Amino acid sequence: MQNPPRAPPPHTVEGMTTQDRSPDPEIPGKPTSAARTTLSHIMTGSDTNLLGTVHGGVIMKLVDDVAGAVAGRHSGGPAVTASMDEMAFLEPVRVGDLVHVKAQCNWTGRSSMEIGVRVLAERWNESTPAVQVGSAYLVFAAVDAEGKPRRVPPVLPETDRDRRRYQEAQIRRTHRLARRRAIMELREQRAAEGFED
Ligand SMILES: CC(C)(COP(=O)(O)OP(=O)(O)OC[C@H]1O[C@@H](n2cnc3c(N)ncnc32)[C@H](O)[C@@H]1OP(=O)(O)O)[C@@H](O)C(=O)NCCC(=O)NCCS
Repeated sequence: MQNPPRAPPPHTVEGMTTQDRSPDPEIPGKPTSAARTTLSHIMTGSDTNLLGTVHGGVIMKLVDDVAGAVAGRHSGGPAVTASMDEMAFLEPVRVGDLVHVKAQCNWTGRSSMEIGVRVLAERWNESTPAVQVGSAYLVFAAVDAEGKPRRVPPVLPETDRDRRRYQEAQIRRTHRLARRRAIMELREQRAAEGFED
């Protein structure tokens, strides 16, 4: 029997909505490790940009692929990318680098999951340690056959690191909701004032 995730610390931001929907208590939880996935790929000449380093879009495709695998594994069915934020490129990736893209489910809502991804690179033919070259956070929504959101099992963090990631994901979730709500309110206000842009 797994322990449920510990409650995240209180965190509020201006414009925060209270409409956040809790996970369904009737769906059994799944431990973080159940869906953790790594995708590895050797970078070749066809992956480069005009500067000769690997194109950011190539890395983003790998990130989306591995995050999709984690979301599908965790939710036990199809899941679509709802958003991708905080994609950071820390170091350039070069031809001949063996890139490892590691992902896990950090947090779950009712139908959405935050997937955290770390990108590591090492020379394909050297035994030097891999270095982190990027990271990203994506939100996936689990969907049914009609493409409508469906409920997901709550993720059960297992380690202190998993619990820290769960808490940080909750903070990002709060900010995403607040930002979306603030923008919608501004647009409604401008529409009411007669702006047509
Ligand atoms: C993502 C999608 C299923 C959401 O559908 P919806 O009718 O807006 O449903 P909801 O508003 O109930 O959102 C479902 C969940 O996704 C979350 N979500 C929706 N849009 C989001 C966004 N832009 N960022 C973060 N989370 C988002 C909601 O907060 C909700 O989470 P919860 O159930 O855990 O509380 C729908 O917008 C969609 O199909 N988008 C296209 C996805 C796609 O094709 N991706 C690939 C791009 S090529």
